[in-house]
Amino acid sequence: MTVSVLVDCDTGIDDAVALLYLLAVPDVEIVGITTVAGNTAARAGALNTLRVLALAGRTGIPVAVGAERPLLADPLPHSTHVHGADGMGDAGLGEADESLVDPRPALRLLDDLSREHEGRLRILATGALTNLALALRADPSLPSRIRDVVVMGGAAEVPGNRTPAAEANIAHDPEAAQVVLSAGWPVTLVPLDVTVPEQLTEEHCARLAEGGAVGRFVAAISDHYMDFYTPILGRRAAPQHDALAAGVLTGEVVPTVCPRVRVEVECGNGPARGATVADTRGRYRGHPDQEGATVRVVLRTTGGFVDRLVARLESLDA
Ligand code: RIB
Ligand code: CA
Repeated sequence: MTVSVLVDCDTGIDDAVALLYLLAVPDVEIVGITTVAGNTAARAGALNTLRVLALAGRTGIPVAVGAERPLLADPLPHSTHVHGADGMGDAGLGEADESLVDPRPALRLLDDLSREHEGRLRILATGALTNLALALRADPSLPSRIRDVVVMGGAAEVPGNRTPAAEANIAHDPEAAQVVLSAGWPVTLVPLDVTVPEQLTEEHCARLAEGGAVGRFVAAISDHYMDFYTPILGRRAAPQHDALAAGVLTGEVVPTVCPRVRVEVECGNGPARGATVADTRGRYRGHPDQEGATVRVVLRTTGGFVDRLVARLESLDA
């Protein structure tokens, strides 16, 4: 049976790869895409998303613009140092067709899709959680219509990336993340613990660049991303955070340690702002699930997803 997915993203280099990956997986249908500020402005993220869809020949998917600023806090600067001024690695891509942006605000699209696919809709969130928090505020019955939510975000047992404590998606809107993680709906959190080890390498990019338009696009946008990550990783490579979360959603990433535990987001203004405090104290007893918890935290996977990811991307050019 086809899986209906709404992607809420801040496209963004790794968001673009995640979208292409989902488009390549059989039995997955992206039924809508909403954007949020983070890597770029939400509107720029929508235009980037349209570029990705046009590349894959899938312009029929609605793309709606969401929150340009966080729920309560002052916005952080967009992550242009990671994703380039245009959010796509400044790879000289052509203009997007602005007329294709869906006229509905993101919350309206989300609401419409939650009713159209009631009980079946899965949400993949690969940006700040502002849109989802606003949607929960506007309609507390939303979780009853959603099958589950997979979130790329947080850092459970490793350092953050935006700050020493906070992962970028959570750092952009900690208050929204707290709302989403405490809403009682089934959430799978895919944190840096499992995304950073899954890296696209120069060898992968060379292989992709020899393929068709999708492969060349991924290689081109990844160049800037690798420039950013080289001093951090000590080698020329780029973690595929958002594709990892997409892989958890499709089942092609297999979690091996994934306890259901309480997760709180630090919303104070100190150095730990945006930290995801996952209660992993059960580690000495094999990570038992906690009574009443609704967030699964992916702490380990079988690994080796990036080769599968590259093969999926290549299939779009076949
Ligand atoms: O921390 C990684 C996450 O932040 C990814 O979703 C990336 O695209 C940025 O949004
Ligand atoms: Ca993202």
